[in-house]
Amino acid sequence: MAENIVWHDASVTKEEREEKSGQKSVILWFTGLSASGKSTIANAFAREAFNRGKAVYVLDGDNIRHGLNKDLGFDEDSRKENIRRIGEVAKLFVDAGHIVCTAFISPYRQDREVVRQLVEDGEFLEVYVKASVEICEIRDPKGLYKKAKAGKIPNFTGISAPYEAPNNPEIILDTEQYSIEECVQQLIKELNI
Ligand code: ADX
Repeated sequence: MAENIVWHDASVTKEEREEKSGQKSVILWFTGLSASGKSTIANAFAREAFNRGKAVYVLDGDNIRHGLNKDLGFDEDSRKENIRRIGEVAKLFVDAGHIVCTAFISPYRQDREVVRQLVEDGEFLEVYVKASVEICEIRDPKGLYKKAKAGKIPNFTGISAPYEAPNNPEIILDTEQYSIEECVQQLIKELNI
């Protein structure tokens, strides 16, 4: 634990930023299995929101694990730390007045709940990107399910590691039933942007 550190208040507040831009800060916390569609929908949504003049940013699991979180693996503690860090980064984006989309499997309910508690009521929207393991296995765009089934990837979510679906997500995007474009439109509608 660091000692002798004192919080310094920002000269420009989140509220001032929100007022100036006319947009409300929010975390869209996408959660779901690998290949459920999190990154694809988050990016398609970000494009649409950007086109509508919104300040929006995507934090993506695979990308963040190339940099900020490249020291982390996939055991339970590493995933917890992965989500803790991303929660803190997402909170910074909220403070900066952005819509921030996070696309991480984030398999543990408790870890997602910790992030929810980091920000104010209404600033964390859990977006469950719903697709069964069976369908994700068929999609398998990166060939990871095949490898995991062959025992070549330990702790693979849905195969040899758990995924805890949200109990009460603010938004459910059913990617077995609806197209990417339909899911994006659902988000645009629900957020009223
Ligand atoms: S999380 O569980 O810690 O939230 P995160 O979203 O950052 O996961 O990373 C998941 C991505 O890492 C997957 O989309 C996949 O490409 C890759 N990956 C590599 N190994 C694993 C594994 N054991 N379990 C799940 N995903 C893995």
